[in-house]
Amino acid sequence: MKGLILSGGYGTRLRPITYSQQKQLIPVANKPILFYAIEDVIEAGAKEIGIIVGPNKERVVETVRATDWEAEIEFIYQDEPKGLAHAILVAEEFLDEEFVMYLGDNILREGIVKHAKKFKENNSDASIMLTEVENPQQFGVADINKDGTIKRLLEKPKVPPSNLALVGIYFFKPIILEACKSIRHSWRNELEITDAIQWLIDNRYNIGWTKVEGWWKDTGKPGDILEANRLILDDIQTKNEGTTENSRIIGRVVIGKGVEIKESFVKGPAIIGKNCMIKKSYVGPYTSIGNECVIEDTEIEDLIVMDKSEIMGGGRIIESLIGRGVRIKRKAELPNGKKLIVGDNSEIVG
Ligand code: TTP
Repeated sequence: MKGLILSGGYGTRLRPITYSQQKQLIPVANKPILFYAIEDVIEAGAKEIGIIVGPNKERVVETVRATDWEAEIEFIYQDEPKGLAHAILVAEEFLDEEFVMYLGDNILREGIVKHAKKFKENNSDASIMLTEVENPQQFGVADINKDGTIKRLLEKPKVPPSNLALVGIYFFKPIILEACKSIRHSWRNELEITDAIQWLIDNRYNIGWTKVEGWWKDTGKPGDILEANRLILDDIQTKNEGTTENSRIIGRVVIGKGVEIKESFVKGPAIIGKNCMIKKSYVGPYTSIGNECVIEDTEIEDLIVMDKSEIMGGGRIIESLIGRGVRIKRKAELPNGKKLIVGDNSEIVG
């Protein structure tokens, strides 16, 4: 089985961060979101992976190539994000055998091994993954027949036929290419994967489905990324490779090499990358700090701070996404509990 991972798209809901980097490269617990997908696909047995890239493709290619993967990875360029079925057509040459398509902004706790196995055992033409959600109106939803087969798929239905939402991971045989070629553009002018799967259903192909039991996150919006960060940090184990001086570290905290923590209080679960300086500060639960960051005279909690950023002085910052190379310098004490989404290389001085 091959892997097709989608790392294109504009990520408009994550601006300003996505002006300068693909959302799939945003770190969750200090690992790019995309890497969770690559790891899952390799764990499921894929030896060849195609990664769809679009805008900001250079950084994606560079970041993926900087790691040694136990699979051959090739990059497939999609000139414009014209839909998930369009991404499949762009990858037509690569897709000469069955494959798993994994949206590069999805994170799934349990991985996909058991789902891949079921797809193979059942010899289905396609297999989708479903999960129970409280607000099916906001998802692609499956309508299931009494015998357990899939009747139809509906995109964001006003009156949902079930609470089973489509997860962004699909298994296909190459027949999906014919389906993608047979459908028309939707009202939003995209080639929709739900329409392609519906084409398979209407043409009596065999569609299986499996249910996701653990948590699943589609990291489309800032709140989803922070939630994924919390869920991953909930499972981390303590590791301290840095140095601490007059500081208190409680709970599960990962501290990278070259980190200096002075006169500070760090409360886990939290992760601090390499070569950071934490001084006279409070770092609260569910915080991920990238490499080469400086946190000084401040309080932060429930936050993602990307590489080479500095937060100095001022009041408390919570539930925020701070891009790469950001400088936040505040002289005066600001009211508590600032929430920020700060794009790469920004400067906030106050
Ligand atoms: P979406 O979240 O639907 O789209 P997006 O990433 O562009 O975000 P937004 O709606 O905020 O503008 O995409 C789901 C995943 O699939 C995501 O990882 C991007 C990827 N994708 C492609 O690679 N090509 C495409 O044509 C589309 C539509 C998405």
